[in-house]
Amino acid sequence: MHKVTVIGAGNVGATCAYQLADRNIANVTMIDIVDGMPQGKALDMAQCGAIFDFDGSIEGSNDLKGVAGSDVVVVTSGIPRKPGMDRMDLLKTNTGILKEVSAAIKEHAPGAIVIVITNPLDIMAYVALQETGFPRERVMGMAGVLDAARYRRFIAWELNCSVRDVAAMVLGGHGPQMVPLPRFSTVNGVPITELIPADRIQALVDRTRTGGGEIVKLLKTGSAFYAPAGSAAVMVEAILRDTGHIVPACAFLQGEYGYEGFHLGVPVRLGKGGIKDIIELELSADEKAALDVSAEAVRKGVADVARFL
Ligand code: NAI
Ligand code: 2OP
Repeated sequence: MHKVTVIGAGNVGATCAYQLADRNIANVTMIDIVDGMPQGKALDMAQCGAIFDFDGSIEGSNDLKGVAGSDVVVVTSGIPRKPGMDRMDLLKTNTGILKEVSAAIKEHAPGAIVIVITNPLDIMAYVALQETGFPRERVMGMAGVLDAARYRRFIAWELNCSVRDVAAMVLGGHGPQMVPLPRFSTVNGVPITELIPADRIQALVDRTRTGGGEIVKLLKTGSAFYAPAGSAAVMVEAILRDTGHIVPACAFLQGEYGYEGFHLGVPVRLGKGGIKDIIELELSADEKAALDVSAEAVRKGVADVARFL
């Protein structure tokens, strides 16, 4: 079986590790700085395997050398966003953590594919790319699958239909300027623009854009983790099983969509080797203008992070 290491065994990391193990996607190692915590969670999950019939190995460690032999590394280590805190407030602390983690991946798992979850996501993916020096196909961020899942859920509630029938696309950075695309969002092939009035679509788009903050406000401490973890697990599965799954993901752009030198959420085809293709949609003028706003916010963040690298 493949090996996946999840760095940061907090809410997102441990949930993702559990989902990977439960679905028999990979052997899993969790690494965290908190003494005993990843080991304890690993033991608990392994015992759960006796209940739900999964047999893969699940380990915990406090040593970043534990990434050795990983096919995929999921990075969740960092500080989660708290109420009233902007994603950019996290920049300095999480950059330091990403640098340390990236150096360990580079040294001990030089062939791994890296999926970054730590916020501010688009910038942290850039930090991981710079610090590992890996090719761009192997260093991506997870946000689009989550943002699209939220959008899909809101569409399904609006139409009182099954979420399984809803496909949706969200481009851009993982922030309030993200760009949910109604024209490319469908229910069994029918664009939602044919099914939902414009003012209601706008309300769903707005709720998607603030979807993370809505959960932060309710939880009061910490942020969402079930859907974020599941979103990463789906990406890991697509890569390890070479499915060619097309999802929005945070990819380093070199001219695609007219942007260069930073990560942004775009549709990608995932499989063996990581990002197999970046898919360029034909955007309307309004869609491109909205994406420009989101891209500019990320570009500024990348410029800000330069002083910490
Ligand atoms: P958490 O606080 O539950 O877990 C973070 C873990 O990282 C903690 O257990 C902490 O001990 C560990 N950690 C800190 N420094 C470390 C280091 N140097 N090495 C190893 N482990 C270290 O937080 P949660 O809820 O799991 O969120 C993790 C990150 O993911 C946050 O930055 C959060 O904002 C982000 N996030 C991003 C999403 C996305 O869509 N990209 C969605 C949800 C969360
Ligand atoms: C989310 O969207 C906090 O980025 C995290 O839930």
